[in-house]
Amino acid sequence: MRVLLLGSGGREHAIAWKLAKSSQLEHLFIAPGNAGTRLHGTNVPIQTTDFEAIKAFVLAESVNMVVVGPEDPLVKGIQDFFLADPELKSVPVIGPSKEAAQLEGSKDFAKIFMMRHNIPTAKYATFTKDTLDKGYAFLENMKAPYVLKADGLAAGKGVLIINDLKEAKAELKAMLADAKFGDASSRVVIEQFLSGVECSVFVITDGDSYKILPEAKDYKRIGEGDQGLNTGGMGAVSPVPFVDKTFMDKIENQIIIPTVKGLKADKILYKGFIFFGLINVKGEPYVIEYNCRMGDPETEVVMPRLKSDLLDLLEGVATNTLSECDIQFEERSACTVMMVAGGYPEEYEKGKTITGLNGITESLVFHAGTASDGPVVLSNGGRVVAVTSYGKNLEIALERSYRSIDKISFDGAYYRKDIGFDVR
Ligand code: AMP
Ligand code: GLY
Repeated sequence: MRVLLLGSGGREHAIAWKLAKSSQLEHLFIAPGNAGTRLHGTNVPIQTTDFEAIKAFVLAESVNMVVVGPEDPLVKGIQDFFLADPELKSVPVIGPSKEAAQLEGSKDFAKIFMMRHNIPTAKYATFTKDTLDKGYAFLENMKAPYVLKADGLAAGKGVLIINDLKEAKAELKAMLADAKFGDASSRVVIEQFLSGVECSVFVITDGDSYKILPEAKDYKRIGEGDQGLNTGGMGAVSPVPFVDKTFMDKIENQIIIPTVKGLKADKILYKGFIFFGLINVKGEPYVIEYNCRMGDPETEVVMPRLKSDLLDLLEGVATNTLSECDIQFEERSACTVMMVAGGYPEEYEKGKTITGLNGITESLVFHAGTASDGPVVLSNGGRVVAVTSYGKNLEIALERSYRSIDKISFDGAYYRKDIGFDVR
């Protein structure tokens, strides 16, 4: 098969690495890719939301399947674009339709969906500029901390958790009346605060059946001990010890099955990955958020723990035969530790030369934000490389990643030294 993978982060490098192992793969193209993805295929200088350029490339290169990494092209409707085009409609796109991608693209849509299908989630109400006063009253009747969520995509910054009522009201006003997050905050979801430990669960679905992938736990804060600003994710581990069979059965029965059945019942086309951001509240799983794609950096541990051929599974998704596919997991644990640019997630510099990548023998290095200048690899984003290792247990996997990190350097590099601290 000739596959085009869209995206340029660590998630896409991990997917490219996994696809490249498939006996069914004839050629892999990655648009736009990074200095790591070029090791597994051909990077193509096309942006992920340039649908016309993607179309021209798919036709010129006889691409048989498009795999979508990030949410942007999905929320903008790449699945629908392919289905509506007579020349493209026979080329499967792995990713939900525009409507289905609203599970990530609109918090209000996701909440209404969960209510309709009795999927456990925090209690909530949604407000607009016209109902600001009702929003204030709603906040007054809630207990701190107050959770305010911009309805639309806000580059991961749209969720505010505030302890003080006055401040929460001011932020609500800033979001609704002063467009703090632009259009994304023209509606705001106010939610009950849930207290517990989070984890990420992933499935792939062909719209009828589904397969659960290895679960993971992501470390989102910049600082050790989960302190400081939120980032895209500083590291991840898989498996997650507290996600035992009992808890996973609850997740499957109360969340995964109602979601997949609910999408079908609502006639919403979903063929692709569903990412359930979950929280464990006293042994009960609740949905914090849906994403319509894989997680990053979770994918950098999920793909290494997937033993089965990924392309077989994706073909099952494309042809509605996923139920006939077998899925096997790697027994070993996996961890990933993200090396980021100094200053991230605030201002940081790009273009730093990365050294030591060739001497890594006991880890996989997935490039997250890199570019190449001939043989030289340069940093090209806040998150730069994700260093993934296997181990018989998490301790051993982490020791390996940290030993590998000691050999990799670039100016200003930072990483958290305590990934997995709470589950070791
Ligand atoms: P989201 O963008 O929806 O994933 O939210 C970002 C982060 O805010 C989550 O990963 C949680 O840590 C936190 N969060 C979101 N909603 C809630 C909630 N209802 N209760 C507690 N924490 C939350
Ligand atoms: N690691 C969280 C995310 O991908 O949204």
